[in-house]
Amino acid sequence: MALEFSAEREREFQEVVARYPDRQAALIPVLYLADREFGFLSPEAMEYVARRLDLPLTRVVNTASFYTMLRKRQTGRFHIQVCVNVACHLRGADGLLRHLERRLGISPGEITPDGLFSLEGVQCLAACGNAPALQVNYEYHEGMTEEAVDRLIDRLRAEAAPKGGEATRE
Ligand code: FES
Repeated sequence: MALEFSAEREREFQEVVARYPDRQAALIPVLYLADREFGFLSPEAMEYVARRLDLPLTRVVNTASFYTMLRKRQTGRFHIQVCVNVACHLRGADGLLRHLERRLGISPGEITPDGLFSLEGVQCLAACGNAPALQVNYEYHEGMTEEAVDRLIDRLRAEAAPKGGEATRE
């Protein structure tokens, strides 16, 4: 079935493109909408964005590829991106990534069997002054230690736990 924005996302799409004199200039916010709507930017999602903005597919793919925060593959509910660039590397990012691999039982690029977590090593998150840094979806965590990572994982698991017998998956 062909991809389509939901009614709510379509409203947001119309609001976003109305802010620009040229709808093609809305590419990045529309990619963000598509990421939220479809879970990640699959080739079909990028074709959909290209069609909606009347842009060449190559421009959409090139732009999506440049931005780490735009997901190009299926992720867990909590997508953990650990910066492994120089400043973070020098302050223990590799150890943090290995700690997360052990704690979650997955390697970068994988999703936990319960669908809660996925892991990725990424380049600079622009938080070098307080390295090592990681982000969970769009939430930043800086000056991380293994203990802080453990607390974070525990909090996210608690957030995801069913409340009152109902699943809370978004
Ligand atoms: S090097 Fe890690 S945030 Fe910049």
